[in-house]
Amino acid sequence: MPAFDLIIANGTIATASESYAADIGIRDGRIVAIGEALNGADEVVDATNKLVLPGGIDSHVHISQPSGPGIVMADDFESATRAAAFGGNSTVMPYCLQQKGQSLRAALSDYHALAQGECHIDHSFHLIVSDPTESVLGQELPALFADGYTSFKVFMTYEGLALDDYEMLSVLEVAREAGALVQIHAENYDAIRFLTEKLERAGRVAPHFHGRSRPIPVEREATHRAISLAELIDVPIMIVHVSNREAMEAIRRAQARGLKVMGETCPQYLMLTEADMERTGTEGAKYVCSPPPRDVASQQACWEGLQQGVFSVFSSDHCPFRYEDEAGKLAPKGRSSFRWIPNGIPGIETRLPILFSEGVVKGRISLQQFVALTATNHARIYGLTGKGSIAIGYDADLAIWDPNLTRPIRQGELHHGADYTPFEGIEITGWPTSLIVRGSFVVRDGKLTGSKMQGRYLPRAKPLASLSR
Ligand code: URP
Ligand code: ZN
Ligand code: ZN
Repeated sequence: MPAFDLIIANGTIATASESYAADIGIRDGRIVAIGEALNGADEVVDATNKLVLPGGIDSHVHISQPSGPGIVMADDFESATRAAAFGGNSTVMPYCLQQKGQSLRAALSDYHALAQGECHIDHSFHLIVSDPTESVLGQELPALFADGYTSFKVFMTYEGLALDDYEMLSVLEVAREAGALVQIHAENYDAIRFLTEKLERAGRVAPHFHGRSRPIPVEREATHRAISLAELIDVPIMIVHVSNREAMEAIRRAQARGLKVMGETCPQYLMLTEADMERTGTEGAKYVCSPPPRDVASQQACWEGLQQGVFSVFSSDHCPFRYEDEAGKLAPKGRSSFRWIPNGIPGIETRLPILFSEGVVKGRISLQQFVALTATNHARIYGLTGKGSIAIGYDADLAIWDPNLTRPIRQGELHHGADYTPFEGIEITGWPTSLIVRGSFVVRDGKLTGSKMQGRYLPRAKPLASLSR
């Protein structure tokens, strides 16, 4: 019997700490050897002139999430995980949204039913706590942490989702006791409501007024408040989808003070600006997401956050809606006001190529930072044991990249369920060409070869309180 099922030969391996030329030997879905001139396998794949990276982990995606009356997300678990695989990802972490009045267990059972047998790659759920009742706080959350649901998101904005400060403190306290990690969407709901109503009274209802309804102080204030509330409880938090310097600097200051505050940013805050929401007619709706894209100075601040380790993860916040669709961005009510345009943009397939091309190829970040920001840190922070790196004993989750392949992002070549990409036309150098999950190809030389039965659900270990930088 050969020693290995598969050898990936002659590639350049990159991890969060180093790059080197070596072969990878895989058996039973795991990496069992890394060395020179390995032989003895059922199959040898030649990766000459290619990079071999840990499969990407996208720890912030929304799939099949209820999004209001008449609105339907553009991706289900099959299409989202297929698109993610083509984008070089081997694991995604979608949200499981608790509806008001619903138990967390009931919400989880709905999402597991949607995902079961439909995932091309591995997945693990974060919870969204929207209704922190006594039983949710006292019984469900602690029991679910013990079952491997070790992180959850809370919102400081959105009708029906926003928690008040008392509720925030209550969930932070439970997280501290359980050792869970809380992700926080930091925007001030009352300020947004006030500004939205004022804009609407003045007839300012076009898509780009979405940005005016949630300017930087709205995010800065909530970020500062979230950090302060977490400090009161002494619990780690992750501020997600940071869009600008003031929020980034608030996180940096908290970290300098020794608080366990981590940060995340996303491609939209590097590549889009508010000018995109000003495109003619209704087209601005394609770019409506929260927090909104800002300006070039904010993009620069987000790059600094990535370069200097203020942000430890780079995620897509994939939240796809079709554009030419009354169940999507062109929902009839959205024409009466930006307030009703579904928030969110697609990005699960383009996250890694954008950061590789704009970050590594353009010299803004190193290849090691790229791997850390897109895979290794996600696994470490969220407790995905055996994922996110290339090392003996780890799952053989590998993305094979052609670092010299140059072509633009084109909607026609993507695999998600949306009918547009907000990143259309951006020239990318460096694309993943193959994706392996636990030793089996899902995408091979640009073609889907895996099945939607391939992805597994991953329970998680205790999250990290902070990354040492
Ligand atoms: O606009 C966004 N980001 N939609 C997704 C939901 C969220 O807040 O992450
Ligand atoms: Zn959010
Ligand atoms: Zn999100």
